[in-house]
Amino acid sequence: MPLSNGDVRSSESFFGPVLDHTKALEALSQYEERDGLDIKSLLDSKKHGGLTYNDFLVLPGYIGFAASDVNLDSPVTKRITLRTPFVSSPMDTVTEHEMAIHMALQGGLGVIHHNCSAEAQAEMVQKVKRFENGFIMDPVVIGRNTTVGEVKALKEKWGFGGFPVTENGKLGSKLIGIVTNRDIQFEEDFRQPVSAVMVTDLVTANHGTTLLEANKILSKSKKGKLPIIDSEGNLVSMISRSDLTKNLHFPLASKLPDSKQLICAAAIGTRPEDKIRLQKLVDAGLDIVVLDSSQGNSMYQIEMIKWIKGKFPGLDVIGGNVVTREQAASLIAAGVDGLRIGMGSGSACITQEVMAVGRPQAAAVYNVSSFAARFGVPTMADGGVQNVGHIVKGLALGASTVMMGGLLAGTTESPGTSFVSREGKLVKAYRGMGSIDAMQDKKAGGGGKDSQKSNAGTARYFSEGDSVLVAQGVSGAVAHRGSVTKFVPYLAAGLKHSLQDCGQKSLLELHKSVENGTTRFELRTASAQLEGGVNMESYEKKLYA
Ligand code: IMP
Repeated sequence: MPLSNGDVRSSESFFGPVLDHTKALEALSQYEERDGLDIKSLLDSKKHGGLTYNDFLVLPGYIGFAASDVNLDSPVTKRITLRTPFVSSPMDTVTEHEMAIHMALQGGLGVIHHNCSAEAQAEMVQKVKRFENGFIMDPVVIGRNTTVGEVKALKEKWGFGGFPVTENGKLGSKLIGIVTNRDIQFEEDFRQPVSAVMVTDLVTANHGTTLLEANKILSKSKKGKLPIIDSEGNLVSMISRSDLTKNLHFPLASKLPDSKQLICAAAIGTRPEDKIRLQKLVDAGLDIVVLDSSQGNSMYQIEMIKWIKGKFPGLDVIGGNVVTREQAASLIAAGVDGLRIGMGSGSACITQEVMAVGRPQAAAVYNVSSFAARFGVPTMADGGVQNVGHIVKGLALGASTVMMGGLLAGTTESPGTSFVSREGKLVKAYRGMGSIDAMQDKKAGGGGKDSQKSNAGTARYFSEGDSVLVAQGVSGAVAHRGSVTKFVPYLAAGLKHSLQDCGQKSLLELHKSVENGTTRFELRTASAQLEGGVNMESYEKKLYA
């Protein structure tokens, strides 16, 4: 019987007798089942078909802590844990050394693509490994005979002035001077060698000087640049005052214990020549190799895993891609340290349409991750991540980390430059590695200055001798998103808030509570999905400030 006007003390409700409010928590036990679905019932493909991220929501839990207290530490391989569970895709419009350095500084990881020569890829690995916060490890160096005109052109090209001059015009050679803007600004004789105008009264610091000490020397000398030299006076690196004023503090940076170097990952294929490539990458200091196949359960990959584990026992191997338990079992048995999950879910991908092979991403992540967890093998949910919510869902389904391509392709640190689209929007190029453009190696925004292309990175999508190239990806552009140094912290903050809503203080706790049925889920109908979107006549979508 409905309550009558003012009758707040009625003893009956639609659903039975009205109880005292203090009994609310106790009353929960009278229900046979908890609200919502446990993960197994949610992902029951016999009942619901194969689900993907947009098909369900996580039900909220109890908030008993601040979002800032949430811990995002998560393993990317059996041996290596990241402080931020985000990884950038090995694609030539996403990850070269610049992205790999900045992902690692934020506590994540960048996987350097292999659509370039082995030498170019190894050089990128070396740049990541040699990176020292605040130190310019590959300064533009000139020789004494470089002309004033050439220096002006260099300034134009690189956008900065201040070039160290060495005996042979290269890094590692004896430092003899430095040329700054001030020295050439009013020079009218462009043919003059820099030796006539360079400063030779130099303030330098010795190799091994800490950033703090170098900073003090720079402040005292009032100079813009501080060359770092070894005991023989050879140029090792340089520090720029303008860099020091930027945020140089990265407490989450991905480093191995007792190492000052950033963790570096790179992708290779599973062809015989990839073994030679890998040797070069390992010589450059590689920590993690990602075997880049769209269908990882192959004799080629299994042989490659065993070979790598035998030859480089210190190198971690991430195998994939896989979407089923059976595929995962083969690679786990071969000895992988991590798995990459996804087939057909990428934003630039048409694999499911063309090949009719693949799996909806939520089903793939749950089935593979729950299996791999039994062998202590961490998983990476790769592809289909378009927002923070998708990251949360990938992790809730059991993945330890999330790999992103399209979402990071628009950042400043991805290869290539931004341009204005026909619609007048600022964009950057993004293309699937199985797109015709990438396979034929037509220049997109990707393939930065260091990429001498060789098509190796697209080998996952075609076989040697194929007479027709069958595309599995498309090529286009994505919205510009600013710098990874702002975008990744936004994603991490969003993830922490979401975990707080779920009532989970860490990713480890989230996994446990999903597994034991404490964290619950709800399916979303098509109209529920509409309801979850914005329903306004017009609006502006600003994601973070
Ligand atoms: P996104 O984050 O949704 O853009 O997906 C990125 C992922 O798509 C990559 O990490 C690859 O696994 C996958 N991928 C890259 N290129 C292609 C392609 O051409 N076809 C199919 N999948 C691709």
